[in-house]
Formats: sequence, C-alpha cells, structure tokens
Amino acid sequence: MRKIALLSLALLFCLAAPSAWSSEAVEPPQKDWSFDGPTGTFDRAALQRGYKVYREVCSACHAMKHLAFRNLADIGYDEGQIKAIAAEYTFVDGPNDEGDMYERPGLPSDHFKSPFANDNAAKAANGGALPPDLSLIIKARHDGPNYVYGILTGYEEPPADKALQPGQNWNKYMPGHVIAMAPPLSDDGIVYEDGSPQRIEQYAADVVEFLTWASEPSLESRKRTGVKVLIFLMVMAGVMYAIKRKIWAGAH
Ligand code: HEC
Repeated sequence: MRKIALLSLALLFCLAAPSAWSSEAVEPPQKDWSFDGPTGTFDRAALQRGYKVYREVCSACHAMKHLAFRNLADIGYDEGQIKAIAAEYTFVDGPNDEGDMYERPGLPSDHFKSPFANDNAAKAANGGALPPDLSLIIKARHDGPNYVYGILTGYEEPPADKALQPGQNWNKYMPGHVIAMAPPLSDDGIVYEDGSPQRIEQYAADVVEFLTWASEPSLESRKRTGVKVLIFLMVMAGVMYAIKRKIWAGAH
C-alpha cells in the first residue's frame, strides 16, 4: 500500500513539475519561417521590411556592429541605394593632416552606426539595462527566431499579485517575465510601401527575418550545399550498390 502511495506521489510530482517551471520561462509559439527546413530561403521583401523596422525603431537603442552598409546588397539593395543609406549617417573619422578628428557622411564600407558611444551610455539612457547588440541575437538565444518574435509580441498586463517597478514591463516570453524594454512596436507605427499589414505581428515577423539573415547571411548557400551533398550521397550509394552486386554476382 505504502509503495503505491509513494509511487503515485512521485507521479503527481512529475506531472506538476513542468507546469511549475513553465511559469518561469514560457516556450514561445512555433511559427513557420521561410528560412526553416533543409530548403529554406529568405524572403527578400520581408528582409527589406525588417530592415526598415530595425532602422526606424530598434536602432534607437540596439547596435548591430557586425553589419556593414555594403552587406545590404545581399538583401536586394543596389549600389546607389546603399550609398544613399550610408550617407544619411555621420561618422567621426581621422585624424586628418592637422591631427584633428572630423565628421564625414557614412560610406558603404562603414559598419552600422551604434546609437550610444559605449555600454555605460546605453545603460544610463535605459534605466540601467543594456540593450544588447542585435547582430547575433538570433544565434545567441535558444530557438532564436521564435523567442525574439515572442518577446516582441508577448507584452501583457502583469498578474495582480506582481508589482512592477517604474521602467519594468511584463512579458510572457522573457525568462522571469520582467523586461526593461518598453513595448517597441505598435500598430501602424511604421509605414509599409508594399501594402503589407501594418500590424505588430507583421513588424515582429519581418524584423526577425532580418535579424536571422544578420546572424547567418550564408544560411541559403549552406542549405543549398547540404541538399547537393545529400543528392550526391544518394547517387553514390546507388552506384556503390550496383558495383557490389556486379562484383559478387558470381560468388556462391
Ligand atoms: C527605447 C529603447 C529600445 C528600443 C527602441 C528597442 N529595445 Fe530592445 N531592449 C532594450 C533594452 C533596455 C533591453 C534590455 C532589457 C532587459 O535586460 O530587461 C532590450 C532587450 C531586447 C532583447 C533581448 C531580450 C533578451 O533575451 O535579453 C531583444 C531580442 C530586443 N530588445 C529586441 C528589440 C527589437 C527587435 C527592437 C525593435 C523592434 C527593439 N528591441 C527596440 C531597449 C530597446
């Protein structure tokens, strides 16, 4: 009898434990991404919309130091467009022949301009929380695309028994739920010229597409190579099998 009681207790614990954990970190919803699967590719239009979202909203707080303007050629911008985009930013360069630093417009070879001079300035402007560089965020987080999409769409009112400090926000998918970033997106906040819905979910999906490309620009060629290797291995296996049959045909 006692054994059965103990066993059922253990079983109860096993069933209860996952729900206790899940109040800490909620798994984000699993979306279908164009870049998923062995033949996945990026959606060029979504990448360009996602860059617009980054540029108009996220770049006020988050740097993307690993990207240079010329990398935008990869997502469909031509040389003239890239020159024009880079020239909208001002960079400090030098020293010149007189030994002075000077300002100049950005060039395609410049890396994306960071919003703050250094991490301390970034923290000071954000109530002590550091907005992480987004160049590699998709790779740096478990289930990156779904996680970042979850964070951007997962803001909620906190449960009644949780009091938030000023500057804190409640997010369903943030580990621990408390996040210093205020909800960055709102419906109609960014104008899309291609008629895509101007909704938080669309903005979030597009910026995730863009951040995924930034984390792994060579994803498409890696997948193409993978498929070619698989085809090669399958053909090779067939050939080897045929050879084996031929060699052993007469052996009994
Ligand atoms: C007003 C400043 C601000 C803007 C605008 C902003 N963020 Fe943030 N973001 C922050 C701060 C501050 C943090 C750090 C939050 C913390 O540690 O609690 C953060 C954290 C994050 C995180 C990391 C969560 C983690 O796992 O650590 C992601 C992802 C993120 N932001 C994405 C974005 C995206 C994408 C945009 C544009 C749509 C954006 N943010 C716009 C300030 C901002």
